[in-house]
Amino acid sequence: MTTAPAAPGRSRRAPLERLIELGRVLGNARRAFALLARTNARLAAGLVGLAVVDGVLPVAIAWVGKRIIDAVILAAAEPSEATRLAALEWVGVELVLMVVRAGVVQANALAQTLLRSQLGLVVNASILEKAINVSYRHFEDPHFNNQLAQARREASSRPLDVVRQVLVLGRSLIVLAGYAALLAGFSWVAVVALLVTAVPPFVAEARFGREAFVLSRSRTFQNRQAHYLEMLLSQEASAKEVKLFSLGALLLGRYRDIYRRFRDEDASLARRRARAALALGLLGTLALYACYAWVVVRTIAGALTVGGMTMSVIAFREGQAALQTALLSVARLYEDNLFMTNLFEYLAVPEDEPHQPIPDGAGSRVADDAQAPAAAATNGNGARSEQAHAAPGALPAWGPPPRIELRDVSFRYPGAHRDSLSHVTLVIEPGETLALVGRNGAGKTTLVKLLTGLYRPTGGVILMDGVDIATLGTAELRSRVGVIFQDFVRFHFTVADNIGVGWLPEMDNQREIVRAATAAGVDDVIAALPAGYEQSLGRWFGGEELSVGQWQRLALSRAFMRRSYVLVLDEPTAALDAEAEAEIFGRFRALAEGRTVVLITHRFSTARGADRIAVFEAGALVEIGTHAELLSHDGRYARMFRLQAAGFLES
Ligand SMILES: Nc1ncnc2c1ncn2[C@@H]1O[C@H](COP(=O)(O)OP(=O)(O)OP(=O)(O)O)[C@@H](O)[C@H]1O
Ligand SMILES: [Mg+2]
Repeated sequence: MTTAPAAPGRSRRAPLERLIELGRVLGNARRAFALLARTNARLAAGLVGLAVVDGVLPVAIAWVGKRIIDAVILAAAEPSEATRLAALEWVGVELVLMVVRAGVVQANALAQTLLRSQLGLVVNASILEKAINVSYRHFEDPHFNNQLAQARREASSRPLDVVRQVLVLGRSLIVLAGYAALLAGFSWVAVVALLVTAVPPFVAEARFGREAFVLSRSRTFQNRQAHYLEMLLSQEASAKEVKLFSLGALLLGRYRDIYRRFRDEDASLARRRARAALALGLLGTLALYACYAWVVVRTIAGALTVGGMTMSVIAFREGQAALQTALLSVARLYEDNLFMTNLFEYLAVPEDEPHQPIPDGAGSRVADDAQAPAAAATNGNGARSEQAHAAPGALPAWGPPPRIELRDVSFRYPGAHRDSLSHVTLVIEPGETLALVGRNGAGKTTLVKLLTGLYRPTGGVILMDGVDIATLGTAELRSRVGVIFQDFVRFHFTVADNIGVGWLPEMDNQREIVRAATAAGVDDVIAALPAGYEQSLGRWFGGEELSVGQWQRLALSRAFMRRSYVLVLDEPTAALDAEAEAEIFGRFRALAEGRTVVLITHRFSTARGADRIAVFEAGALVEIGTHAELLSHDGRYARMFRLQAAGFLES
């Protein structure tokens, strides 16, 4: 929601807009019911049935109350067995109704409790399901992020709240209609008085509800900022710097400022709402007592029984109370509307990248070629995978690494003002190790995002063995291109899981996991952990914490776990000590055998070991060649290389 929020307050211009808003409120209520019906149709129907019964019961009880009083007066005037019995019978009927009512109340509470957790699961799961089925660009889009965060925050409570408010509204209207019917037998004037005094509060409540809604919509942005500040102040990742730089008071001050403004706005609205409620409540009370006086006069005149009088007064008073309840639920529905609109908008985001599992048989050839013969299980799937590749736009079956060709590739991030990559033409030969170097922001990571299909080029094409990767399924593409990003994920899972997730089909293969860990030089670190490979990591769940470099080695073993025949490592050794780096690259050659490796690094000692080096500057490929070629070319690479080397030589 980037548009400027509408000013809260009484806008004169928009009866139509209000109608549209009301339509949206009702539409959201309908969708909330649909959600409920999908969760548990029987319970949902039960809730509706209970609300109807719950609406009819008080009216019936009031009517029976009238019969009791009249029967008692009759029995007192004409004492006989029959009249006494008749009065007692009505008492019995009321008892039965009261028992039913108690049952309905309990059943209602039970049904709501059951539905709350079921609905919470369904809604939360749909929210996350959406997240795994949309493409990565959504996660860099603030609007989507906003929707997702808001949906997640209130997912478990709001939809049921909306349903409950609608049921309360429905029940109150039934009660109201029932009492109006009872009153109609006595005086149409009373019915009209009841309904007419209902109109002003209804209009007022709808208006204030709408105002509250507009107010909270105007706060979306500040709310996000407040949540962000909250996160900075309360989470491990930021707490360190917040403390070291003494940012606590500053951040808390900003947080307070936001909520102070909210508080003032809320108070002003609440005051106006209270004033209106008081005035309109007074109107209702006056109407009630006017009706009361009228009923008393009519009863004295003999036009009404005493029971009839009692019932009329109850009907009028309870009718008004039902009205109040209905009004409150209308106001709440308006307030819930913001969340519901957000939730349904979020759930309606097109699923442009449905989640796919890693294809059968993926990686089996790579496993054969590499020295890990652990693919016995996957070898048998060869036939199936060949069949899968017969589809148009598919790569040939698993074999040697493909030739990757970038043809005039340009890319601009959504909403950005300039290209992050411009007109890059580059061939990555099968099996070669290509280093990408360049200053910060040169576009190296962006290139990797394109290679893995996280983003599509905005110009040009990327071909793999002649097939445009845009035509490949994402799972197919990603099973062939394995990436470890510079901001890799530290899963707060066990060590084995942290490595195993690198290649799901072998996630439980202990031998493979140990091989990958050894290759990344992290096996001795793991051996020193209390629970070894089963040690859980990260502080969140009380696991062991690793150093930055140790985490990086773990990420590296995740890469070594992968069976992809193209391996992309984005600064895999930035946090490693020099000795470890030399050791890992010593082994890396062997591991990379039969695979293409794209290596992003700022260390020229690492880059020079690659077959070729591509130098990027401001999104353009400016030089490419072997280390020796680039040095003799004496361009940017040579300059940067000498700069780093000079630093060593001096010291
Ligand atoms: N998600 C994004 N949205 C918009 N622009 C982005 C995004 N990510 C990166 N950029 C821009 O794209 C350019 C290239 O960024 P990229 O991350 O590819 O650089 P890099 O070469 O990997 O740098 P580094 O060495 O610092 O990792 C930068 O100018 C950056 O401002
Ligand atoms: Mg980068």
